[in-house]
Amino acid sequence: MREYKTKIYKIDDKLIKEENIEGLKSDSFLIEAAELLKKGELVAFPTETVYGLGADATNPSAVEKIYLAKERPQDNPLIVHIANLEQLDEIAKEGLSNIGEKLTKAFWPGPLTIIVSKKSIIPDKTTAGLESVAVRMPNHPLTRALIEITGLAIAAPSANKSGAPSPTKAFHVINDLSAKIPLIIDGGSAEVGVESTVVDIRGDNVKILRPGGVSREEIKEVIGGYLYESDSSYQFKNSSQLRKEELGTNNILREAGRPVSPGMKYRHYSPETPLYIIENEDFLKELIQSGPDQDTALVLSDETYAKYFSLLEDIKVIKMGPRRKPAIIASNIFELLRSLDKQVLKNVYIEAIPEKGIGEAVMNRIRKASIRE
Ligand code: TXA
Ligand code: MG
Repeated sequence: MREYKTKIYKIDDKLIKEENIEGLKSDSFLIEAAELLKKGELVAFPTETVYGLGADATNPSAVEKIYLAKERPQDNPLIVHIANLEQLDEIAKEGLSNIGEKLTKAFWPGPLTIIVSKKSIIPDKTTAGLESVAVRMPNHPLTRALIEITGLAIAAPSANKSGAPSPTKAFHVINDLSAKIPLIIDGGSAEVGVESTVVDIRGDNVKILRPGGVSREEIKEVIGGYLYESDSSYQFKNSSQLRKEELGTNNILREAGRPVSPGMKYRHYSPETPLYIIENEDFLKELIQSGPDQDTALVLSDETYAKYFSLLEDIKVIKMGPRRKPAIIASNIFELLRSLDKQVLKNVYIEAIPEKGIGEAVMNRIRKASIRE
């Protein structure tokens, strides 16, 4: 694979904060980024969820470079990013269904990805051979400006090395992908902190394939009774450690015998340090009483830390943010997972938070991070 001298361009915070799309569109760094994308090269850039690694979604050899740079399994399809609804018409075989209209009206631009049938302009490489394509209109002024300058639909997975926690800051991308791509655009922290919610809207119900930045409750409110609950994304309800026998052939996770969204089957987000989930308070109490060594850390919510403060004096604790504000935990979770490997730790125990609102996406990522091969 070619080695690059990766450029890192920091974009003016003021343009982003003021959502000055026109200003961003005339920024010379973003114009250079758009030129690279149009030439079939890769560029990493921030979105409101996590940093993405972009390529021209209609160019198979450009898309191939994404798989190589990330070392991504070839059968895991990409999300195509657009800046306006005309671009959706260019990609999707049919117009939006009633439910599709409602969802995109409510959540676009934003952290919602819809699965629709694809037109042939989207090559098989982008969708890993599927007839469907995942589409998202991101809500970050920089991402929107960049897509608009290129005039292209941009395929972009999270800009991490495959299997690592998603990047929420430019330096996470530098860590994973420098020398592998020509350019990283630094636009500060990604605010939401977990990826988009992926929903399949084909047919007359909605299936959540991956919980994310838009919550199940928010989706339900918009679509009324259509949410197809029993077929939602795979959840590891009873065990924080996925046992080998729960994996089907080819390690494909199955729910009721059915494979779910391709990306959900891989080990994901995992720090090298073994991670265990504290599912209940009794377990936490036992853990504290056992007097863990300094090479064991507990990741606790602010509330739990405050409650057990007097017993935690000799124990290494990492705070994850307030339980009552899961959006704050979401915005920090990937950086926290990345930080674990920088410390010399043998074991990390992390507190489970309620799987409500964005807490569902947070727990989905934590459960995946705790899986060991
Ligand atoms: O927030 C996000 O969605 C970020 C930013 C960069 O936009 N992107 C992202 O992409 O998380 P990625 O590649 O890391 O995750 C895409 C997920 C995978 O689980 C993949 O299997 C699923 O979407 N997916 C993509 N196309 C699909 C399709 N046609 N059918 C079912 N699932 C699909
Ligand atoms: Mg990813």
